[in-house]
Amino acid sequence: MLDVFHFIMKGLFITFEGTEGSGKSTQVSLLAGRLYGLGYTTRVLREPGGTPIGEEIRHTLKHSQANDAMTAEAELLLMNASRAQLVREFIRPALAKGEIVVCDRFYDSTTAYQGYGRELELPMVKTVIDLAVGDTRPDLTLLLAVTPSVSEERLRSRQSTLPFIRDRIEEADREFFERVAHGYEKIAEAEPQRVRKIDATGDVETVRQAIWREVETILPTMNAKA
Ligand code: TMP
Repeated sequence: MLDVFHFIMKGLFITFEGTEGSGKSTQVSLLAGRLYGLGYTTRVLREPGGTPIGEEIRHTLKHSQANDAMTAEAELLLMNASRAQLVREFIRPALAKGEIVVCDRFYDSTTAYQGYGRELELPMVKTVIDLAVGDTRPDLTLLLAVTPSVSEERLRSRQSTLPFIRDRIEEADREFFERVAHGYEKIAEAEPQRVRKIDATGDVETVRQAIWREVETILPTMNAKA
């Protein structure tokens, strides 16, 4: 548990990670709603994006008609350009005010997707991440883990219910997503204190409770019941 002094001075930075269809966005909203309900000033952000500049970069990365030829290196740099902006424009100022920041993806996504998935050299990936974030690091990362088949199934059902919007990254093959999932496993193994793996194959409520148990342990004593 963090002490109240840490919280007031540094805020609290929580990130969500996982492959496509892991249910991150739903759980981000649920957690933020609960924190907000308990009286914590809570800011929800996402990557890539989260700032006006970042949202333009997100469009280029994912949906632009002109992004077919994007190289893995350009992808790495654009992800981190968006991140550098988000860190300085929103995350640091919010933490400095003692707020809770909940971010849907952060730099572990780059390690998993550009490092393990696109197979860029991990030390180079780390150098770029370090430039983008400096010492702004999450206090807690919730890794929502689902099997590749659950991920594919959820993605298919999402695609069949929403209007079709092309997404360049989702067009990658199954081996790519298997490498990404393996990358997340390695990240969780390397930093078990920060990165808490949550079984996200269950229903929304079960996953929500598992997440809350983790978050509760790092909330300051002033409001940690609930
Ligand atoms: P999402 O917001 O629907 O999760 O889409 C973001 C996509 O961008 C997802 O496919 C993961 C990918 N991504 C990376 O490849 N590297 C990164 O650093 C980040 C933040 C996201």
